[in-house]
Amino acid sequence: MMKTIDDVAVEGRCVLVRADLNVPLDGDRIADDGRIRASLPTLAALVSRGARVIVCSHLGRPGGRPDLKYSLAPVAAHLGGLLGREVDFPGDIVGPEAHAAIAAMPPGGLVMLENLRFDAAETSKDDMARGYFADQLAAPVDLYVADGFGAMHRKHASVYDVPLRCVSAVGYLVQAEVAALRRLTAQVQRPPYVVVLGGAKVADKFDAFGSLLATADRILVGGAMAFPFLAARGLKTGTSLLEAGQVDAAARYLGQAAPGQIELPSDLVVATRIAADAPRQIVAADAIPADQMGLDIGPESAARFAATIGTAGTVFWNGPEGVFELASYAAGTRAVAQAMADGSAFTMVGGGDTGAAIRALGFADDAFGHVSTGGGASLEFIQGKTLPGLAALEV
Ligand code: 3PG
Ligand code: MG
Repeated sequence: MMKTIDDVAVEGRCVLVRADLNVPLDGDRIADDGRIRASLPTLAALVSRGARVIVCSHLGRPGGRPDLKYSLAPVAAHLGGLLGREVDFPGDIVGPEAHAAIAAMPPGGLVMLENLRFDAAETSKDDMARGYFADQLAAPVDLYVADGFGAMHRKHASVYDVPLRCVSAVGYLVQAEVAALRRLTAQVQRPPYVVVLGGAKVADKFDAFGSLLATADRILVGGAMAFPFLAARGLKTGTSLLEAGQVDAAARYLGQAAPGQIELPSDLVVATRIAADAPRQIVAADAIPADQMGLDIGPESAARFAATIGTAGTVFWNGPEGVFELASYAAGTRAVAQAMADGSAFTMVGGGDTGAAIRALGFADDAFGHVSTGGGASLEFIQGKTLPGLAALEV
């Protein structure tokens, strides 16, 4: 069993918490603070027990150099507001300003480092580069706490290499995520098992398909995920988001699937561009105009997906069905969320964007069995893959 923060003494000790505070931003406004709230129990407990807490995270994909668009400064301010205390934000990661802030921190203090991905070493494929960065992150640290579940599938310095160098424990978020996700590994207890996949980060999720075909009774495919499959069926997808290499893989998966195992949208909401004021129309999946892109599943598909979800014993959902941030393209995502909330299945919603979507559409987290803060991470976990962030804690 992994050690938790309740198993270790923390008073007066320097504790580095790797959180996932990668929240959606709208300018410098936090569009959904779910991941910050999910990190509160661990941070509040450590602070109240008199630890000297350093919290670190990535935000977005700034590409290995400082880019103020991706600064964690607004996140530090927001966290301070939620905790009702000041969060010291020195504005660097392992430089002299962070050093000084950490050295000056009293017991019960809290320092947030700047975006870890401002340093290319964080995500480097070179073990030495990551190791050197991890040495610097670990230098002042007495205890490492893994609580950034959403990033634990990444073999990154702060996720994988730092815990190899420190006494480590898991935080409350990771503990809760792992306990919930264990219900979806190996044999799901309540068939039929329905998986709903959507979202825009298609490449990340595509690899999961093969193993999901072996475990899921039905896979409902929406969002940008649907386009390689529609293209593989020989349909024209207009200007929809589509990566060429994925069409062959989609064709292979369609060939492997049992009849009816993969359900694709039969109609779509299309427009010429992603904008609230662009004229939109509903078209059959085989009639997407050449100059238009699919931005949501259509009403017929939404009703069919909802009906399938209604028959499920267990549902896992990762990735919105469309561009839910705009009301004109939110209906498909809303229909899936409603069907999950109404049904009697054990339901799991996974992912930063998917969690943000249900909250933006007015659903409470407790309308679902579990709302995971990690999309990619939960998808890898339910495939039975070892997450690098968990593997590093078990050595
Ligand atoms: C996420 O949002 O999925 C996690 O924070 C991981 O981010 P990444 O996909 O950029 O590694
Ligand atoms: Mg995500």
